[in-house]
Amino acid sequence: MRFDWSVSPSSTEVKVNRILDADAVQLRSGSSPFLVVDSEVWRLWESEIVRAIRPEPAEVFTVDAREDLKTVRTVESLCAAMFESGTHRDGSLVAVGGGLTCDVAAFAASIWLRGIELVLVPTTLLAMVDACLGGKTGVNLAGAKNQIGSFYPAGLVVVATDFLRTLPRAEVLQGMAEALKTSVLADRDIAELLGSDVGKDRLPELVRRCLAAKGAIVARDLRDLGGRRLLNLGHTLGHALESSSGFEYSHGQAVGLGMLGAAAMAARRGGRPALAGELRGILESIGLPVRLEGKVDPAAVTSFLDHDKKTGGDGRTWVLPYDWEDCRLENLSPREEAALLEVALGELR
Ligand code: GLY
Repeated sequence: MRFDWSVSPSSTEVKVNRILDADAVQLRSGSSPFLVVDSEVWRLWESEIVRAIRPEPAEVFTVDAREDLKTVRTVESLCAAMFESGTHRDGSLVAVGGGLTCDVAAFAASIWLRGIELVLVPTTLLAMVDACLGGKTGVNLAGAKNQIGSFYPAGLVVVATDFLRTLPRAEVLQGMAEALKTSVLADRDIAELLGSDVGKDRLPELVRRCLAAKGAIVARDLRDLGGRRLLNLGHTLGHALESSSGFEYSHGQAVGLGMLGAAAMAARRGGRPALAGELRGILESIGLPVRLEGKVDPAAVTSFLDHDKKTGGDGRTWVLPYDWEDCRLENLSPREEAALLEVALGELR
């Protein structure tokens, strides 16, 4: 016997605008949603958020965007609040905030009564160009990131780039690094929209293009078993740099450096040699670091990668950018990896 399940939610509608319009978030269920919102975003944007959600939220649960609170315990508190508020099987959850808030709230929505309607309203550039689309939800366990989670795409994503007006500049730049990643993967023209002073009128186009490119990649591999792993471009070396700098590098800064290193690695295997220089120029124009500047001991990076649990005897899969819109998943043996890592770190010196 064989049964084909049409698993819900089966599609995501995405709206991208500059302004958070009144009534922009319309709940399919028609009942008042449970609202989960970043506490700082709530302080700054409460009236606009309330005006945007129809019907108005029944209950508001604020979340402090702290990595140490991205836990099962927070999810349990959230579910307890949904229980108290009487959020039913045909109810809904709207999450407003950055990637952390969206990840936690979406996980709760995916397990509450086995899954309720979910709407995401991302408020950081990182969440707008990446985290809000593709259904990854999750929380940390024992300090390890996103160990518990689910694939649960939102039915609706509403992006209003005006939220970026109150986002610290350093955080906007982190989002630019992820946007550059998407550009290298799938849409070279996105790079034209990047820089330290992108006009507010161009931001919706930047987000739209990033989501169109990411959506096409995810649609081929929602469960992250193959092609979706391309979205990890810059992240293997990036995580090692983030960690071995004692988190002096933010995620976005580390991903930018990681991409640069990966471009040098790809060039050694036949990729276009000029790509690393082009990426360096764009990262500089955004205001992101292009050299390690003493924040990281190269030996610590090598040792981080050596101890990374994912390292098996057979080596590790890297995403190597051979050129714009030509990135490849390549399994490197420990020997190849060690040699290419030298090249990557040389590029960043
Ligand atoms: N942020 C990477 C992914 O969604 O797969």
